[in-house]
Amino acid sequence: MNVQWYPGHMTKAKRMMQENIKLIDLIIELLDARVPLSSRNPDIDELGKNKARLILLNKADLADERVNDAWMEYFKARGCFVVKVNAKSGAGLKQIQPVVQEACREKIERDRRRGILNRPVRAMVVGIPNVGKSTFINSFAGKACTKTGNKPGVTKGAQWIKLNKQLELLDTPGILWPKFEDQQVGMKLAMIGSIKDEILNTEELALSLIRFLLHWYPEALEKRYQLADELAAGTDPVAVLESVAKVRGCLVKGSQFDITKAAGILLDDYRSGRLGRITLEFPDSDEVGEKSETSDPRQE
Ligand code: G4P
Repeated sequence: MNVQWYPGHMTKAKRMMQENIKLIDLIIELLDARVPLSSRNPDIDELGKNKARLILLNKADLADERVNDAWMEYFKARGCFVVKVNAKSGAGLKQIQPVVQEACREKIERDRRRGILNRPVRAMVVGIPNVGKSTFINSFAGKACTKTGNKPGVTKGAQWIKLNKQLELLDTPGILWPKFEDQQVGMKLAMIGSIKDEILNTEELALSLIRFLLHWYPEALEKRYQLADELAAGTDPVAVLESVAKVRGCLVKGSQFDITKAAGILLDDYRSGRLGRITLEFPDSDEVGEKSETSDPRQE
């Protein structure tokens, strides 16, 4: 399947980020824990060079916990600061503040040498659409925050959320549009729901997801749709999707399977976590989409 994208939005979003990046010390980069490499936009390296960086593996609750840990190691081994979080429930957010201090140690020391004491770190949240930027800002800032800037007649421009004495957050996140020459990346972003279904062939997408699940998480299919007998008899993705249609009563004209509806149900079940905690890429190779069977982190 060829996943198409609209480059039109990109330039505007990029320009806004370039403006805002000048104002900040730290970039908080949100990645989707289910697809940490595919949800990463490489432009951020160029845009954010010379800035401290903190990676948040968000939606960690939807991803395979053992693979989350493997990704944490992956990023740490590459010199990144990284915390896994669930922006929706707030899990993991408490660990962020000390890591921010650590990530910005150079800036804090530099300030101190210049006699500037207690200047808060200014941070911007960035990430691809739907990764959870707004949810994160709301949960992290909580109720205790106060907005500064943009007071009538005083300052115009960026609005800052004062989290505490040490940290201020830009209240508008930077949107990075996903980048994918690699169709595998596009497919994974579509599977997690970052690309609108209207521009996709959902049946093909569901079949790809089934193929992946049959290989890595067959028990998820078995459990959710009671497919033990069907999977024992064979693992043809089309047959599996038909079984989902059967189990869920997706029929057209009385007896034919409504495959489109079944595909929608399967994708929805995956995206919402009802299929279980499933990660779509593993950190055993730098090549996105390629996994060697010998180094499945779930087997460790
Ligand atoms: P964005 O600003 O980056 O575009 O993303 P946004 O915060 O709008 O979040 C997109 C969706 O992801 C929201 O769901 C949000 O609740 C969900 N989300 C964000 N962080 C997490 C997380 O850590 N775990 C889980 N499970 N979900 C998360 P929605 O369906 O659009 O809204 P709602 O049903 O939650 O109201």
